[in-house]
Amino acid sequence: MKSKVIRDRFLKFFKDKNHSIIQSSNLIPVDDPTVLLTTAGVQQIMPFFSGLKEPPSKRLVSCQKCFRTTDIDNVGLTPKHLTFFEMLGNFSVGDYFKKKAIYWAWEFLTEELKIDSNKLWVTVFEGDEEISADDEAIAMWKEVGVSPDKIYKFGKADNFWGPPGEKGPCGPCSEIHFDRGEQYGCQKDKCGPNCEQCDRFIEVWNLVFTQYNFNGKKYDLLPQKNIDTGMGLERLIAIMQNVESVFDTDLYNEIIKEIERLSNKKFGISSDLDRSFRITADHLKGATFLISDGVFPSNEGRGYVLRRIIRRAITNGKSLGIYDEFITSVSDVVINTMKTIYPELKKNREYILDILETEEKKFSNTLKQGIGILEDNIKHLKKEKKSVIPGEVAFKLYDTYGFPIDLTKDIAKKHNLNIDLKAFSTYLEQQKQRARSVRGFLIETKKL
Ligand code: GLY
Repeated sequence: MKSKVIRDRFLKFFKDKNHSIIQSSNLIPVDDPTVLLTTAGVQQIMPFFSGLKEPPSKRLVSCQKCFRTTDIDNVGLTPKHLTFFEMLGNFSVGDYFKKKAIYWAWEFLTEELKIDSNKLWVTVFEGDEEISADDEAIAMWKEVGVSPDKIYKFGKADNFWGPPGEKGPCGPCSEIHFDRGEQYGCQKDKCGPNCEQCDRFIEVWNLVFTQYNFNGKKYDLLPQKNIDTGMGLERLIAIMQNVESVFDTDLYNEIIKEIERLSNKKFGISSDLDRSFRITADHLKGATFLISDGVFPSNEGRGYVLRRIIRRAITNGKSLGIYDEFITSVSDVVINTMKTIYPELKKNREYILDILETEEKKFSNTLKQGIGILEDNIKHLKKEKKSVIPGEVAFKLYDTYGFPIDLTKDIAKKHNLNIDLKAFSTYLEQQKQRARSVRGFLIETKKL
């Protein structure tokens, strides 16, 4: 089943249950200055939940463009993490609540898409001193047919969602996980949903029972009970297309093929190269959408996120052996594969490619300067018969010249040198602390 069919079937399934389809909002959140980027479909629904705005309908459904900066470092390392992704979601603004949300989610996965129900496990909120355990959800999951040994309980970190910013609607949640099979497991006794040792279980759908408002200190009941759900489209497609990772789905095939053409290397042969393929594909897809939605590369806030992913894509392209400028041709493939769903990409094509071209040229010059500095340092070290590049030098290259530490490591390795990574980490931590105090007001979602 192609991605377009799956996206359409989700929207139609809920349309047939009287939901109004709403368009994805921009990646730059409209109503919440405390949030850097749009990380969930519910963000544009929040004013309806809090009663600040009148919804067009009490039942809504969408496919939302999302970007999660907290996953930048996970991309490439796992089969499921992406920075840019599409989130499918159905919402109830004071209309149906837990029972219908659970029953319909189960019906969509097991009857509409015919996913084997034996492969689905669920998690529920175990309760804490402020909010009671969700025994109701446990009973409902049993009613739809989930066997009790496939129902796991977790605390706030896993089974409580929101608010996306500092304050606002939130609630306990219940997640549906897909079991890819024992062959992907760590074989440990405790292996199950949210296992930190392996990728056997993939979280597919999160159902949030949004009944609280967090005012910064405590949770008050909202005047009405709401439903917010979020399902990663790419993960669902990977399950439906029975492929190894989200990068093997039809949403990424053309992008990966273009990177294969440019690098003259094959995807799926070596895990090191695959990591670079995945990072390059993910980051250039994300950069294309961010620019289209009005983010401009800069040294702070969302502009810095954009600059960082463009630079990571370029250096990972270099790890694949792409030495010429290349990012506009990958971005063009992203535009071509996604433009029928997101027509703004077609409209903004020239603008997107111009920004990427300028940014790549700028970074190439910076890289050249950085490489000059590193080579001078290496000459000096060799003269003094030293074999360790000081952490301060690696940090300066990272901080001032945008060198990812992996690139410095690669160059050091070619010269049989090591890097003082401990000192590098100390400088990095100090910088993060400085950045945290400056950017403290820009808060990402608490639970992603
Ligand atoms: N708002 C639900 C989710 O992002 O999982």
